[in-house]
Amino acid sequence: MKEELRKQIEAARTAINAAERQHDLMQLKSQFLGKKSDLNGFMMRLKELPASERPAFGKIVNEAKQQLEELINSRLLKVKESEYAAVLQAEHLDLTMPGKRNIRGALHPITQTWREIEDLFIRLGFQVADGPDIEDEYHNFDALNTPADHPARDLSDTFYIEGDVLLRTHTSPVQIRTMEKFAPPIKIICPGRTYRNDNDATHSPCFHQVEALVVDEGINIADLRDMLNYFARELFGPEIAVRIRPHFFPFTEPSAEMDMVCPKCMGSGCSLCKDTGWLELGGAGIVDPNVFEYVGIDSEKYTGYAFGLGIDRIAMLRFGITDMRLLFNNDLRFLRQFK
Ligand code: FA5
Repeated sequence: MKEELRKQIEAARTAINAAERQHDLMQLKSQFLGKKSDLNGFMMRLKELPASERPAFGKIVNEAKQQLEELINSRLLKVKESEYAAVLQAEHLDLTMPGKRNIRGALHPITQTWREIEDLFIRLGFQVADGPDIEDEYHNFDALNTPADHPARDLSDTFYIEGDVLLRTHTSPVQIRTMEKFAPPIKIICPGRTYRNDNDATHSPCFHQVEALVVDEGINIADLRDMLNYFARELFGPEIAVRIRPHFFPFTEPSAEMDMVCPKCMGSGCSLCKDTGWLELGGAGIVDPNVFEYVGIDSEKYTGYAFGLGIDRIAMLRFGITDMRLLFNNDLRFLRQFK
């Protein structure tokens, strides 16, 4: 029996030393030291020995159990360490590696221009007004003193939705909506989207205008001219060439148009500006008394000026863009240049 015990202990030692995983060691523990283990079996078999040998043999079995338990515990420590080292190796993080580059977006050139214009007018004490993109003919044309047979009302220029409902062709209806709600003094701008049946290098079907309206006692054409000049200087710098020339709009009298130097040829003449050297920026004028009639403002007491400028054209000049359609194609290679 002693020889059997020796072999059993030897087998247990070899198995424990060879175990590589915690789970295996736990199994070996129950195999060699558990209640139904062979070592415990030796205790049961003590009675097979002569009574005089039993205490000494029992002691040997107990010592063997204790030694095996210690061996398992020390092996367990080593296995845990090497398992942990393997996890560290597998999940190795190189903190010195360069990180993934986070590509940041940027504001669209039209948004940049829009915000800059808004800031400029807010600094001058203007309030920012808003109006609907989907308008009715009354606000888009009638109340702006536009005759029923005016060519701007044609289907070839205006997107009609249903009946007299249309996509606003300019931001001027916001003039009417503002004067319907508020009495003078009025000093607002309205940047917004506008829609026309146009499409070429200087015209887009959906484009942006900024409207301005100032109504008070004693407003005159010199105020309008000063404001347009100030606007051009602030936005384009003192060197940029702009010009104001007489024009006609049904809702202003007198009326004018403002041109800026062509961003492509800088004035020498090219296909973009149709060899004139100039691109039209917008219209302006002194509010026609008929418009005041529509909104119930006393035209004997009050006068006003208004203008509406193309934000997309301003963006073209500021960033040297020579085809408006580039602004709407959403090509990231183009847009990334304006970060
Ligand atoms: C008007 O829209 C008038 N409502 C402006 C106005 C307001 C006059 C207040 C008097 C008082 P016009 O149709 O000229 O005017 O357009 C003004 C500007 O909008 C143009 O000069 C141009 O810069 C821009 N614009 C017009 N159509 C387009 C288009 N399809 N695409 C891009 N910009 C356009």
